[in-house]
Amino acid sequence: MTTPSASDAPAASHASENVAVTAEKRWAIIVGLIILLLLAMMVFTGLHWAAMPPSRVETIDPQTLHISGEFVESKLGTSVGPDGKVVVRLIAQQYSFQPPCLVVPAEMPVTFRGTSTDAIHGFIIGTTNANVMLVPGFVATFTTSFKRPGEHLMPCHEFCGTGHEAMWARLQVIEPNEFLAKASGGKVVSCVPR
Ligand code: CUA
Repeated sequence: MTTPSASDAPAASHASENVAVTAEKRWAIIVGLIILLLLAMMVFTGLHWAAMPPSRVETIDPQTLHISGEFVESKLGTSVGPDGKVVVRLIAQQYSFQPPCLVVPAEMPVTFRGTSTDAIHGFIIGTTNANVMLVPGFVATFTTSFKRPGEHLMPCHEFCGTGHEAMWARLQVIEPNEFLAKASGGKVVSCVPR
């Protein structure tokens, strides 16, 4: 019967130290590669954006939105332009959308025009792919259409401050005829109780 000699314990700890060092080195290499990959992505996207800047940039003074122009309070909501196009104008601010309840017709192209008065806010309509950022100083616009009547939630999805999680609005999609009746005579439509 052999008893463990005094030299066995240091030998065992030496072996486990080697295992630990190997594992540490492996992780150091993996983390280094991840950092290099992220840096490469930043360089690539930076060069890509510099080479292909956005084709359309529309600026606006966020400090005078409420005084004049298309984003004054009386024009916020959905209206039918002289050309027959349905346009929704809205403003995002800490911590609400104005108007907080939008109405649009189903089965018709709807153009959204939005901007922010303060921070960067996120604009998304329910589970649709209508999804933009509302940035102060810029007008975000896109055109989409909704297949059927219904109601969608519009949560702000860009962290904009302490009230971010309470910032949301609703969008009602109604029958085209019902909408056109409401919007007749150039009226601005929303579902905000007045
Ligand atoms: Cu507005 Cu988050």
